Amino acid sequence: MSSGTPREVIKVLIVDDIPDTRENIRKLLAFEADIQVVGMAGTGREAVRLATETRPDVVLMDINMPDMDGITATKAISTAVRTAAVVIMSVQSEPGYLRQAMLAGARDYLTKPIASEELYATIRRVYERNEPIRQQEAMLGAAAVGHVETAQRPVAAKQVGAGHVIVVYSPQGGAGVTTIATNIAAALIRPETRVLLIDCNLQFGDVDAFLNLQSQSNISDLTKVVSDLDQELIDNVLVTHGSGLKVLMAPSHPEAAYDITTEAVRQVIGAVTPLYDYIVIDTPVQYDDLTLKLFELAEKIVLVAVPTIPSVRNTRKMLEIFDNVEKPPKLSDKIVFVLNRTVSEKERGRGTVPAESIAAHLKKDVAMSIPLDERAVLTSVNQGVPLVAKQKSRSPGRELADLAELLRKMIETDEPPAQPAEQQMQRSKSGLRALFGGTG
Ligand SMILES: Nc1ncnc2c1ncn2[C@@H]1O[C@H](COP(=O)(O)OP(=O)(O)O)[C@@H](O)[C@H]1O
Ligand SMILES: [Mg+2]
Repeated sequence: MSSGTPREVIKVLIVDDIPDTRENIRKLLAFEADIQVVGMAGTGREAVRLATETRPDVVLMDINMPDMDGITATKAISTAVRTAAVVIMSVQSEPGYLRQAMLAGARDYLTKPIASEELYATIRRVYERNEPIRQQEAMLGAAAVGHVETAQRPVAAKQVGAGHVIVVYSPQGGAGVTTIATNIAAALIRPETRVLLIDCNLQFGDVDAFLNLQSQSNISDLTKVVSDLDQELIDNVLVTHGSGLKVLMAPSHPEAAYDITTEAVRQVIGAVTPLYDYIVIDTPVQYDDLTLKLFELAEKIVLVAVPTIPSVRNTRKMLEIFDNVEKPPKLSDKIVFVLNRTVSEKERGRGTVPAESIAAHLKKDVAMSIPLDERAVLTSVNQGVPLVAKQKSRSPGRELADLAELLRKMIETDEPPAQPAEQQMQRSKSGLRALFGGTG
């Protein structure tokens, strides 16, 4: 990755309760020019303190220690210092511990006794893999969305949020639902506003790719245990992006989606909603039991179309469905209609329909037009940094940021305030069930 450029020095913190072990590792690392030991800790608590002070790139973490164990310390450090990659050192590779450690945010592990070559290779590997996170922190640290303190703010004993649910959907594949969901979620973050992005594209979710996030845990870790959901478990499963955005990922394999029921997803959303101010939900293209449930739970539905005839036709069918719900809150009242991949009149052609014609045909105002810009979108995805963070002042980052602000205003001025998702669901249930044949 960085071949050709001079290597930076990797700052390492060593954590082990046995002084000899710490010293041996320190000696091994002393020979490596690109590795610098910035601190050594004998307890978990000391490790957390030293990590926030010295901001190491890599933390070598023992598991069993007095006062605070390595897993608890890993979790605390991963939250407080996002650029620190924790590597667990354990006596044998105990799968149970390792799983817990990975859930707590560890990036890799080493088995004791540690061979020097493996130690060096692991440190360099996790450091390189963390490059996108360092970049994100650097970029977001300054201004833009950069409310990194949100991510670093210690979690209060009981987190309480306003719980506004925004669902982004399109009946047209590839219309830009994930692009829009990730961007509005990132743009809604403020120092005092907590935002959670949920990837409900259970089979082919790709929010992880859009935000350059890796995690061992995902929504199926919560849907499996819906009766035991608590904040600690939820915090363990969520992933934090450099912007401070929390993400609940989709399963990494499509088969995993078969075991997830709509009811379980509803319960998970019910459990996370009160903890966040905004919950933005990315959806798959199918219109089915799950998407219908998400529409019911939503306070706003961002309906995305692209300016092509097939997309406009699909959107019309969707609008008809939304209109047919009689009972309040009507689904059609929640819709915020967005056109993505719009082009200027000059570039138009090849089956592209003008925005005005679409609005007239659908009898629906376009709340926001987001211009087509393949390069900007691709670069943003490659870097894992949303457009609203880096390119807020020019298209299409500007329109995405404007869309987020529009949603914020609509939600803030809506009276009465957000209803609990549960109540909303109860209210609209009968009308929808009559329409779709009472399954689910
Ligand atoms: N405004 C845009 N300009 C250019 N490319 C875009 C734009 N919006 C989305 N894309 C690209 O289109 C593709 C589909 O977008 P995506 O957000 O994954 O759609 P969906 O989630 O609806 O399938 C992606 O490659 C994305 O980078
Ligand atoms: Mg998508």
